[in-house]
Amino acid sequence: MTTTPPPPLLRVRDLTVTFPGRRRGSAPVRAVDGIGFDVAAGETLGLVGESGCGKSTTGRTIVRLLEPTAGSVAFDGREIGRLPQRALKPLRRDLQMVFQDPHSSLNPRQTVARIISDPLLTQGGSAAAARKRAVELMELVGLIPEHIDRYPHEFSGGQAQRIGIARALATSPRLVVADEPVSALDVSVQAQIVNLMERLQRELGLAYLFIAHDLSVVKRVCDRVAVMYLGRIVEIGAKERVYTAPAHPYTRALLSAVPLPDPAAERSRERITLLGDPPSPAAPPPGCTFHPRCPKAQAVCRTEAPPLRVAVAGEPREVACHFPEAG
Ligand SMILES: Nc1ncnc2c1ncn2[C@@H]1O[C@H](COP(=O)(O)OP(=O)(O)OP(=O)(O)O)[C@@H](O)[C@H]1O
Ligand code: SF4
Ligand SMILES: [Mg+2]
Repeated sequence: MTTTPPPPLLRVRDLTVTFPGRRRGSAPVRAVDGIGFDVAAGETLGLVGESGCGKSTTGRTIVRLLEPTAGSVAFDGREIGRLPQRALKPLRRDLQMVFQDPHSSLNPRQTVARIISDPLLTQGGSAAAARKRAVELMELVGLIPEHIDRYPHEFSGGQAQRIGIARALATSPRLVVADEPVSALDVSVQAQIVNLMERLQRELGLAYLFIAHDLSVVKRVCDRVAVMYLGRIVEIGAKERVYTAPAHPYTRALLSAVPLPDPAAERSRERITLLGDPPSPAAPPPGCTFHPRCPKAQAVCRTEAPPLRVAVAGEPREVACHFPEAG
């Protein structure tokens, strides 16, 4: 008898998000252009790529702060991409988001008690129970519970991000979409927040979709990594393989810009400089959209878009390139 494996916690397929052009008459922007990936329970998938490639749009659409234009988002085997907002309420318990700028994502007129309690009150909890839980959560994320009646401006950036994380954890979610959770923080504070997120994952069994443009942060936290370019995933696979043997020229270029801790290795390494800026997603180049910047581009790249497919037989890694590096 064969048993069907359980569905992944999150399954995204052919997800597309199109925005109308910012000016009247301008072309629509395909911010996310048919992407797909899974996130298993308890795992961290890193999502990386240059500014404007569609990372935040992807994250926001998964938690339904944005509406998908096409494609499917399934959580725990249930399609949620098309659910009307009122039907999303029970789901909000399981699916939360942490934002990049902690201060601007916290209401400056609300106390920490109110901010952290809010998701619980929305779910119908009592005020007393929500406050008790807020105290527990402050302890869990390393904040002093006596500060519960203070306002966000009384906290540093790192502390404010701890408040944002406590708010996200209030309903005991199973998946947290963290959109550049440490990018706005000082480097010394970044490590503390990353440590905290790792500890919480171990203790609570959380899954993360961890969005960052900084590949070194993602390397530390993720199990698998997806690299986005101009609204599409160009490489996805196990962290060890993507970081040590990147198969897509864009992944190679991004990795070649990450400083190495060993000075000798840093001096002797190959550095790949990308030509120009990414093109506009309102007017993507034909064929492989990376071709105008790719050091390996050939004639076919200008006309035929490479599908995302297994690059090295037997390895669960997919690459969208006509000439992937086999390493
Ligand atoms: N509301 C919107 N209306 C029109 N275009 C938008 C909107 N939101 C995002 N875009 C465009 O969609 C594309 C993807 O934006 P997105 O914010 O998802 O990128 P990102 O990868 O998160 O970038 P960053 O690293 O700068 O945060 C960009 O070209 C952006 O200008
Ligand atoms: S398909 Fe061609 S242009 Fe695109 S990444 Fe591969 S080699 Fe470069
Ligand atoms: Mg973003």
